Amino acid sequence: MSLPASLAGRLKLPVIAAPMFLTSGPELVIACSNAGIVGTFPALNQRTSAGVDEWLTTIRAGLKADAAPFGVNLIVHKTNPRVAADLALCVKHRVPMVITSLGAAAEVVDAVHGYGGVVFHDVTTARHAKKAAEAGVDGLILVASGAGGHAGTLSPFSLMAEVREFFDKTVLLAGCISTGGDVAAALMMGADLAYMGTRFIATTESMASDINKQMLVDAGASDILYTPAISSIGTNFLRQSIVAAGLDPDKLAAPAGVDLSHITEPYNKEPGKPESKAWRDIWSAGQGVASIHDVLPAAMLVERLGAEFNARVAAFGSVAKQYAA
Ligand SMILES: Cc1cc2nc3c(=O)[nH]c(=O)nc-3n(C[C@H](O)[C@H](O)[C@H](O)COP(=O)(O)O)c2cc1C
Repeated sequence: MSLPASLAGRLKLPVIAAPMFLTSGPELVIACSNAGIVGTFPALNQRTSAGVDEWLTTIRAGLKADAAPFGVNLIVHKTNPRVAADLALCVKHRVPMVITSLGAAAEVVDAVHGYGGVVFHDVTTARHAKKAAEAGVDGLILVASGAGGHAGTLSPFSLMAEVREFFDKTVLLAGCISTGGDVAAALMMGADLAYMGTRFIATTESMASDINKQMLVDAGASDILYTPAISSIGTNFLRQSIVAAGLDPDKLAAPAGVDLSHITEPYNKEPGKPESKAWRDIWSAGQGVASIHDVLPAAMLVERLGAEFNARVAAFGSVAKQYAA
């Protein structure tokens, strides 16, 4: 178990606020990193690479001297024509952490290592984890079942156990981590860092609409539908947002095949129905909604996570004593 040197001692809590399409931008990144956890955003949240350049300048200007590092998410896939340009901007701005999704490429790792940055790659299976390890990534993000976004289907226990058999660098755990107690539990399971998405949608600084935030606060775990129908690969969505878009969550058509252009193309084009876009109008969230009951500034959330983390660790200390030989 380990952290890269560039992160060790720089975090108040072992937490990364995960990149979220249409949700995380500079305001959230700055608030998280200034509060002592890693703030991140997906490069595709800006319509152009020039926009990413602007955001990186804004973030650098907004970070305090003792801020935690920040990160950028790159979707490394043939359908994303911007990978090279966005990677060049990460190099230009010396982005401390690059998070790759879908493809793990040795070229990306080399470019980021060239200026001293680290690359973490997200995976849902041990097979993909092995491929990413071979590409030389510094850390693996294990996206388990119930996570927001393109979730995995495996239990975090089995995924962690399989990956730890061959990977001894940094491991991050993702999926339904919503409280500081959950963060402590992730570390107990063998993770070095907790990767939290859905919880950060319900912050003042997230770019999600107020209706989206309230829907998430009101939702329970059974309001989350895992389906490939909307985003072409298995994704968790809030049922209520599918209904609000005029669709029946229990009668969604199967996707024709994997097609990630939905990030730019409208999904529901049925005549007479309002045009709804996956992610923009049909909102992703993970089963971690079960323990999210309020919207608050990110700095307050981080403070609360810290208190919950300490309480869980202390409580565990007395459990451990009971069973110590
Ligand atoms: C609304 C939303 C948008 C997301 N967009 C992205 C994205 O653009 N890139 C990415 O790598 N992961 C994306 N994810 C996945 C998160 O980065 C992270 O893996 C996940 O949210 C962790 O699970 P949790 O939501 O249960 O905490 C998204 C998740 C959500 C909820």
